[in-house]
Amino acid sequence: MTAEYKVHGDVAVITMSNPPVNGLGHATRAGITSALAKALEDAAVKAIVITGAGKAFSGGADIKEFGSPKALQDPNLLSVILALEASSKPIVAAIHSVCMGGGLELALGCHYRVAAPGTQVALPEVKLGLIPGAGGTQRLPRVLGVEAALNLIVSGQPVPSELLAQAPGQKLFDKLAASPESLMDEAVALAREVAAKGGDLPLVRNLPCKHPQGDAYFQFAKNMVGGMSKNFPAPLKCVEAVQAATKLKFDDGMAKEREIFLALMMTPESAALRHLFVAERAASKIPDVPEDTPKREIKTVGVIGAGTMGGGIAMNFLNAGVPVTMLEMKQEALDRGVATIKKNYEAQVKKGKLKQDKYEQRMALLKTTLSYDDLKGADLIIEAVFEELGVKEKVFTQLDAIAKPGAILASNTSTLDVDKIAAFTKRPQDVVGMHFFSPANVMKLLEVVRGAKTGKDVMATVMAIAKKIKKTAVVSGVCDGFIGNRMIEQYSRQAGFLLDEGATPQQVDKAIEKFGFAMGPFRMGDLAGNDIGWAIRKRRATERAEMKYSKTADKLCELGRFGQKTGAGWYDYQAGKRDAIPSDLVNKMIEDHRKELGITPRKISDEEIVQRLVYALVNEGAHILEDGIASKAGDIDMVYLTGYGFPMHRGGPMHYASQVGLYNVAETMKRFARNPHDDANFWQPAPLIQKLVAEGKGGFA
Ligand code: NAI
Repeated sequence: MTAEYKVHGDVAVITMSNPPVNGLGHATRAGITSALAKALEDAAVKAIVITGAGKAFSGGADIKEFGSPKALQDPNLLSVILALEASSKPIVAAIHSVCMGGGLELALGCHYRVAAPGTQVALPEVKLGLIPGAGGTQRLPRVLGVEAALNLIVSGQPVPSELLAQAPGQKLFDKLAASPESLMDEAVALAREVAAKGGDLPLVRNLPCKHPQGDAYFQFAKNMVGGMSKNFPAPLKCVEAVQAATKLKFDDGMAKEREIFLALMMTPESAALRHLFVAERAASKIPDVPEDTPKREIKTVGVIGAGTMGGGIAMNFLNAGVPVTMLEMKQEALDRGVATIKKNYEAQVKKGKLKQDKYEQRMALLKTTLSYDDLKGADLIIEAVFEELGVKEKVFTQLDAIAKPGAILASNTSTLDVDKIAAFTKRPQDVVGMHFFSPANVMKLLEVVRGAKTGKDVMATVMAIAKKIKKTAVVSGVCDGFIGNRMIEQYSRQAGFLLDEGATPQQVDKAIEKFGFAMGPFRMGDLAGNDIGWAIRKRRATERAEMKYSKTADKLCELGRFGQKTGAGWYDYQAGKRDAIPSDLVNKMIEDHRKELGITPRKISDEEIVQRLVYALVNEGAHILEDGIASKAGDIDMVYLTGYGFPMHRGGPMHYASQVGLYNVAETMKRFARNPHDDANFWQPAPLIQKLVAEGKGGFA
């Protein structure tokens, strides 16, 4: 049982107690029910207070139960709330800290509510592709008014209790406590007062629910919400459920809410968002690095290189209030780096996203230097110099000579071997990869590259610092390209083969953008610079000569068409504009190349384009799991969702493949292997996929 029961004179106190946030799993629900029964049986008890232990009233449903029969097992949340409503003795909810989802729905089933100031109140179900399913859409509009309730339900965002308490005519809280400390005394006093008064107990279900403009308001709300929630059905369904509250009798509205909730639960969009929720939390955990691993203290940071990446990396730490010393080879490079940082902050100030004094505080944390001596005191030093092993060797040899013992030495390399870099020092246990994505001050993803000798405490520290600078950190082993770029190589290769076989860049981009990617591979190449991939292919040509590529990307670069920065790439660009205009010259170049290869172009369907691009990610992802480069499929999904614009509503490549069914995915791969213009070897389903299919498993664990 995870609810405590205590009697204080004539008031029984039920305390939900299921750390960390008193999630309403089966045991907690059973605990509340049995405590309530005790209180009702005890003639000495005149009133009841329900609250939460520790850091929350209740954070709501137990996500671990989602989709499992346990969630519906009696007592379910609906029946607990009905039991509270039906109590003959007054029940006061004493709300504090966090009151979300099912926690708020439970409070709405109580007769009275007292809230501590500073409580975060939310119905966040929409973020999981759902609507509140235990009366939230029917009761909240009755106490808060239709518009305020709908805003809360559609946004899923928390609102502080004191703000809600100010809403005109609100009946959500009967009282706002003077302080969190006085909450329980005030709730118990109210319980005694209402018990002494007697009379009918107030129920939220009996309150009226109307909007003065009726259907016109809901039409407006649907237009607004529909425009903002492309790809996700839940926000519009929130509007539908609240509208039902204004039109139907309470119990009929509840039935409607349930019907919508259950239908949404079955949607792939909700499955994707629930997967993302779980995968994000799991990504921060490293199987062999326990959570209580001691961490090193990071009070100051050094950044080497003030180029594209160095400046953005420095900003992350300045934003988090951590002093940064940035080192360069020449004063001009430092000045340029600092000017870019200032320009970025000034743009934020101009847009009203950053206050002038905050900007100044952040800049005051930044020091620049040309001397390694100034990095002697740094706790963490991140290198972002040119991508050449020789240059990295120079930097790490110097760092080894000056850095204080215990300092963490990180490399932002995107392709080089972190173990080789670590071997330039006499302290490989302190060396780690921190692979940021460009622009480093904006992109959420951080691949934390664990070298063969990287210390567990270093891994634990870097994961913690990633959280501090608000990154989604995913651990990768050492390999060429780590998780993200190793997979994108296969995706890009397929994009190239598609051109050789008959597609145009615009057709490929359009198909994958329709699938939901923010940008197709060719528009992306033009944005990032086609020369980057060119340089990587040249290097690999000697290392991995057997790898087959379409030559179109090289031919494009030979024409000097590096992308937006040169005014031309796969597409043409007008001066100062970013609109991609299909290029006759490029299309002709592709046709000529096809002729050289002797390929007769064929019409390629959008379905084939999407499958070849996405399944290329999936197959390489499976190899990455087999090789132990990623420890779980969810980590790979996090990389693609936060770093590569994979559509959120599809849940990442590995989740998507699991939804399609691995058997279907494997059969399609085998079909692609028979295409003479593709890479037959690559399309052999990875042994992991074959094994899972043989075991009858539809998806990655
Ligand atoms: P960049 O060329 O813009 O900047 C490199 C900076 O390092 C230059 O300002 C240069 O003066 C400085 N530098 C070179 N040698 C140095 C030395 N010995 N001591 C001090 N400073 C030195 O390059 P970028 O794009 O910032 O890349 C840096 C690193 O980040 C590379 O390892 C790259 O692979 C990696 N990376 C780049 C990404 C990108 O999108 N540009 C994404 C993720 C990682």
